[in-house]
Amino acid sequence: MPFNLKNRSLLSLVHHSAEEIDYLVDLAETLKKAKMAGTEKKLLCGKSIALVFEKTSTRTRSAFEVAAYDQGANTTFFDPDSSQIGHKESIKDTARVLGSMYDAIEFRGFKQESVEQLAEYAGVPVYNGLTDEWHPTQMLCDLLTMKESSGKKWHDIKFAYLGDARFNTGNSLLMVGAKMGMDVRIGAPKAYWPSKELIEMCEEFAKKSGARITITEDPYEAVDGVDFIHTDIWVSMGEPKEVWDERIKALLPYQVNKELMKAAKNPRVKFMHCLPAYHNTETKVGKTVIEAHPELAKGVEVTEEVFESDASIVFKQAGNRLHTIKAVMVASLA
Ligand code: CP
Ligand code: NVA
Repeated sequence: MPFNLKNRSLLSLVHHSAEEIDYLVDLAETLKKAKMAGTEKKLLCGKSIALVFEKTSTRTRSAFEVAAYDQGANTTFFDPDSSQIGHKESIKDTARVLGSMYDAIEFRGFKQESVEQLAEYAGVPVYNGLTDEWHPTQMLCDLLTMKESSGKKWHDIKFAYLGDARFNTGNSLLMVGAKMGMDVRIGAPKAYWPSKELIEMCEEFAKKSGARITITEDPYEAVDGVDFIHTDIWVSMGEPKEVWDERIKALLPYQVNKELMKAAKNPRVKFMHCLPAYHNTETKVGKTVIEAHPELAKGVEVTEEVFESDASIVFKQAGNRLHTIKAVMVASLA
């Protein structure tokens, strides 16, 4: 596969090779070190980047804005209420307008088709900042965080993802783990497994990369011997609040708690979460859900105890969004 990241969009990572992904993670490490040492060079001076958000964000938006600022580029933030996108102008038309002014476009939204159509018509690189199906910038961050925190090579890293495994984060972790030759475990009830097509695609990637894939309904089997346990919220952006009851019923056995962390049988096991997380009553949603369900007294997808423990590396992970998103922009635009 030819290696080419210049002017390249980042839509899912499905079509990036393991070498390209490895290069982006390495570049993020280099950029992180340069920022920390105060030796970062501005490689994106004069570039303008459009940030289009159909859904809300804290980390992805700040990572794009700060990364652009660090590199000398400008950004414009668009939310669905302050632009014509969606209500008065199609994605196809928006793509051609933004593509005529900006050097790149970040898009966060519902449908994967939207980000793909944007890339087809914009004529400039488009970066997927999350869709229902994929979360590729999060994956570069998670790979960097697992590499830094374990000091291991991809092939030697074992990780589990527990919870809703048929949405962006679960799909993406399975896919990148398979691509990079890792030991990937998915622990979820069958109804929340990734689609058959995705599993088959990942099995093909695994044949080439040497990845080991386990998809199981048994959360204890999933975490046995792993270096990292990941989870994500049980009700994602865009899903109706009515699904909470069925989600809690189905996913409670997959809650990341002290017992599950112990079941990894690895005293160095780390907890990861793309965030935001529901782990106590300090958020509106967390409070409503926990108060209505006494079985969630210790937390929702993760307990407060695990979230706040030394094993939790979620804020280091969140900080790595900056360096990995910067790597994507530098590789495609510098
Ligand atoms: N993890 C993540 O994408 O966070 P935001 O929704 O805050 O961007
Ligand atoms: N699955 C979550 C990820 C948030 C970063 C969502 O889509 O809301």
